[in-house]
Amino acid sequence: MAGRLDGKRVAVIGAGSVGPGWGNGKAAAALFAREGGRVLCVDRNGEAAEETAALIGAEGHVAFAHAADATDPEAVRATVDAAQRQLGGLDVLHVNIGISKAGGIAATSLDDWKAVFSVNLDAAFQLVQAALPLLEDGGGSIVFISSLAAVQSGPYAYVGYEVSKAALCRLSRSIAMEYAARGVRCNTVLPGMIDTPHVQAFIAGGIAPDELAARRAAQVPMKRQGSAFDIAEAALFLASDAAGFITGIDLRVDGGMGLLAATAG
Ligand SMILES: NC(=O)c1ccc[n+]([C@@H]2O[C@H](COP(=O)([O-])OP(=O)(O)OC[C@H]3O[C@@H](n4cnc5c(N)ncnc54)[C@H](O)[C@@H]3O)[C@@H](O)[C@H]2O)c1
Repeated sequence: MAGRLDGKRVAVIGAGSVGPGWGNGKAAAALFAREGGRVLCVDRNGEAAEETAALIGAEGHVAFAHAADATDPEAVRATVDAAQRQLGGLDVLHVNIGISKAGGIAATSLDDWKAVFSVNLDAAFQLVQAALPLLEDGGGSIVFISSLAAVQSGPYAYVGYEVSKAALCRLSRSIAMEYAARGVRCNTVLPGMIDTPHVQAFIAGGIAPDELAARRAAQVPMKRQGSAFDIAEAALFLASDAAGFITGIDLRVDGGMGLLAATAG
């Protein structure tokens, strides 16, 4: 069977993982490569980018590592140059990066608010702006990783994360509308509860990993957390030609969790 990204030149921004195991970006990079894409693994942590690229190489597929902080305009331009140099162009831009800082409106400092927006929204804006000339060349596809938190409140407030991820969904629709006639598609994946090293590192806060996993799984209608590959599969579909008539959508990948808001009351 032909790979679903055969011949595609792909950049995954945030292709590393903050800990051992599979983060969403690392899984996406690996899956895209398994499906025939040639992948530029971009991460502000150069070692993490190298690790993902090496893993892909060890599986017999093609990947390059590139260290860049996507909040830095010069680094963004250098990333697009690297895609041109290493891949010969760009067909898929996958923006996976995202950070969160706990706190509601009263507890969040302006500095924290700006830091979260810088990574979760401004970086995507800059990356797309810089990459569009390459993407337009062959009818490219952009995939953003947002969050269910963009559309649904949970038990804990993290206002900067929620609002920046909502804005990312809106940015995706703006890009989709503006570039629809030019053959560039833009779509967004909204992960729900996903079992990743990021969650273990930042949310656990003293809770044993098994206890954390059980608590999270219990909140999901399907009674399990998603895996990084559940997110990667959705991103792969949106990136691929199979989704060639789909643009501007928000795709929840959440085991039904978004239904809780829809059916509340
Ligand atoms: N795990 C979940 O339950 C869940 C739920 C909803 C949404 N998400 C979203 O999934 C994405 C993260 O998934 P992950 O598992 O790959 O996380 P991760 O934190 O393990 O990996 C993200 C990678 O992005 C890199 N990165 C961060 N900021 C960067 C920057 N400015 N420039 C370049 N690289 C940068 C990090 O170094 C890291 O290697 C985020 O957008 C997050 O909001 C996760």
